[in-house]
Amino acid sequence: MHRFHYINGQLHCEEVPVREIVRKAGTPLYLYSYNTLLDHYRQIEKAFSPVKALICYAMKANGNLAVLRTLAKAGAGFDVVSGGELRKALQAGANPRKIVYASVGKKTGEIEAAVKAGILFFNVESEQELEQINAVCARLKRRQQVSLRLNPNVDPHTHAFITTGHKASKFGMDLKTVRRLLASHRKYPWLILGGLHVHIGSQILEARPFREAIRKALGVVAFARRKGIPMNTLNIGGGLGIIYNKEEPQTPADYAQAVLPLLKRSRVKVILEPGRYIAGNSGILLTRVLYLKESHGHRFAIVDAGMNDLIRPSLYGAYHRIQPVLQPKQGGKTIATDVVGPVCESGDFLGKNRKLPPLKAGDLLAVMSAGAYGYVMSSNYNARPRPAEVMVRGRQWKIIRRRETFQDLTRGETLPAFLR
Ligand SMILES: Cc1ncc(COP(=O)(O)O)c(C=O)c1O
Repeated sequence: MHRFHYINGQLHCEEVPVREIVRKAGTPLYLYSYNTLLDHYRQIEKAFSPVKALICYAMKANGNLAVLRTLAKAGAGFDVVSGGELRKALQAGANPRKIVYASVGKKTGEIEAAVKAGILFFNVESEQELEQINAVCARLKRRQQVSLRLNPNVDPHTHAFITTGHKASKFGMDLKTVRRLLASHRKYPWLILGGLHVHIGSQILEARPFREAIRKALGVVAFARRKGIPMNTLNIGGGLGIIYNKEEPQTPADYAQAVLPLLKRSRVKVILEPGRYIAGNSGILLTRVLYLKESHGHRFAIVDAGMNDLIRPSLYGAYHRIQPVLQPKQGGKTIATDVVGPVCESGDFLGKNRKLPPLKAGDLLAVMSAGAYGYVMSSNYNARPRPAEVMVRGRQWKIIRRRETFQDLTRGETLPAFLR
């Protein structure tokens, strides 16, 4: 469910006509619905309320300060993956006691900042990282909770690039390593090995792989407890899939129903790290048609948003629905159209072979379900300034990140004296 819908033939975000926003804010433009974000967060919170789970929004999905503030005010915690994300979360008003920090490559300075901020858990991805966190804590004389990240070797049946809990993936540690580290927990006197973490991938549509991973993780929790470690938390990661096209994903309620019996039995505190589920269908990307052309029988609509603005179609072959901002007539003529960007790469497309009404230059298109892994993965490739971002709440809307300018493109660059 989301709040982008046609009213009187015009696409609206909540109560505001999208065209009105574009007139003032231009294209390409990311547009987010405040109430959709909150709805999605609350659906997960409600589904897992029987175990009072802590929902740590995976801010890598969409890290705009206004998005973070929306969720922080609703009581969300945050899953961060870098020192930069930690700082942004804190700036947005996150409670550090609700922050968990994953990443296979945490730098010493990032670890230090997180310990000083008083975060809830580090999700630890290697033995050397565990030693490093212990050393930093010893230096700071601060005890710190950590969760070991188990790679459970489970296939979540999703795209290879977003599979993280399979044996060939760089994430987490195998069962043997996790058990060995738990058995030698006394080597880490500054750390409290209070949690276990699993995150098996993203855009997962069914409960089975989650159940398999959780079962394996709970086996480790039991092992830790037998070793005298008071392990009381299981972080089951993110990964809930959403509808981009014709998927029929499990709902948060289905998911909870499938895993809660396991979790309740083991009496662990539960943490979740959903990103895509909260942000994905809360945002769209608006773009304007620049030109139309036919070549070798192919019809192309060349639009002003490209792979630098939304890389998911090029990177993963991801599907995003594309629909005109002006509602097409029901049963009207459609033409198979490739919607492509202006970037000098053949891989620069937003959608191929889409049945769209006959378009003309100047028409506005909405690329749906672009709220997660959209703006955050954008770049300045081809010296293209990044788009603006807007948030709508009811009848109000506000630019929450201004469009980049030419000055932004060259900020930080200098000409060396030998070239002057
Ligand atoms: C450790 C971790 N947690 C949570 C997430 C969020 O996943 P999703 O957006 O699929 O919920 C990711 C995504 O890559 C992740 O790596």
